[in-house]
Amino acid sequence: MLNKSPAVELIDVWFKYLSNSDYVLKGLSIVINRGTSIAIMGANGSGKTTLLKHIVGLLKPQRGVVKVFGIDVQVMGFQELTKYVGFIPQNPNYMFFAPSIRDELIITLKNFKYPDKCIKDRIERIAESIGIGSLLNEDPSTLSYGQLRLASIAIALSHDPEVVVIDEPTMGLDKRYREALARIIRQLVESNKTVIASSHDVEFVSKAFNEVAILNEGRITAYGSLSEVLYDYMELVRARLTTPTVPKLFSELRKCFNALNKPISVEEFLSIAMERLGDGHGCCRASD
Ligand SMILES: Nc1ncnc2c1ncn2[C@@H]1O[C@H](COP(=O)(O)OP(=O)(O)O)[C@@H](O)[C@H]1O
Ligand SMILES: [Mg+2]
Repeated sequence: MLNKSPAVELIDVWFKYLSNSDYVLKGLSIVINRGTSIAIMGANGSGKTTLLKHIVGLLKPQRGVVKVFGIDVQVMGFQELTKYVGFIPQNPNYMFFAPSIRDELIITLKNFKYPDKCIKDRIERIAESIGIGSLLNEDPSTLSYGQLRLASIAIALSHDPEVVVIDEPTMGLDKRYREALARIIRQLVESNKTVIASSHDVEFVSKAFNEVAILNEGRITAYGSLSEVLYDYMELVRARLTTPTVPKLFSELRKCFNALNKPISVEEFLSIAMERLGDGHGCCRASD
C-alpha cells in the first residue's frame, strides 16, 4: 500500500524579489502527496521557477510556510533539506566543477556521507538507470546540453532523494532524451518518490506525469489529473496557456466518439479513434 501522505506543502506563500515591486507568489498554497508526479504549468514569467526554488530551499517566503515531509524547511535547514530533495535546474552548466562526471558523482556521494566502499557500486547503478554509462569518464565541458542534462539528473538522483524537483525537464532535449527522462520519472513514481516539475510541453507531461497544476497570478488556480486540468479550457485561457491540441480536438469530436475517457497524448487519441473507426461504420453514425 503506497503512502499518500503530504511530501511537499506550500501554505499561503508570498514572495517578491527585492528588485521588483510586485509579488510573484501571492498567497500560493498547494499540497503534493508522496508518490505523485506533478507538472506545474504557467505562462512565461508566471513564477514556476520561483515556486520550485522555494521547495528546494533556494528562496525563502516573505510570508507563509513551505514544508517537506511535515517540517518547515526554515526549521529543517538547507543541508538537511538537500537529503530529501534533489534539484535539477534549467541550466545544467552550473552543476559541474569536477574534471569528469564520475568525479562529480564521487564528490556528491561523499558529501552525502556514502561509505567509500559503496560509492563505486552506486555510481554504476545510477549511471545504468539513467543511461549515461558511456559518459562517466567524460569531461563535462565537452558534453552536449542534452548529455549534461542527463548527467545533472544522475547527480541529483545519486543520493536517492525522496523528492525530485526539475525545472523545465525537456528544455533542449531531443526525442531520445525526452523518452529516457519520461521513463525515469515514471520509474521514480513507481518507487513512491515524488516528482515536481515545471513544464510547457504537454506531450511530455502526458507521457511522464500523473497530475497537473496551473500557476496564474501568483496562485495555483487548478490542480488535478491531466484530463481534469487539460480539458479545463477556460482555466487554460485565463492562465494564457495554449490549449493542448488533443484535448481541443477531442472536445470538438466528443459526440462522434462517445468515449468516457479524455485522451491527452496523440497515442491515446489514436487508440480511441481507431477503436471507434475500426467497427467499419466510420465516425459519426446517425445513431450517435
Ligand atoms: N532573480 C530575480 N530578480 C528579480 N526578478 C526576478 C528574478 N527571477 C525571476 N524574476 C521575475 O519573477 C517573475 C517570475 O519569474 P520565474 O519564476 O522565472 O517565472 P517562470 O519560471 O514561470 O518563467 C518574472 O517576472 C521574472 O522576471
Ligand atoms: Mg522558469
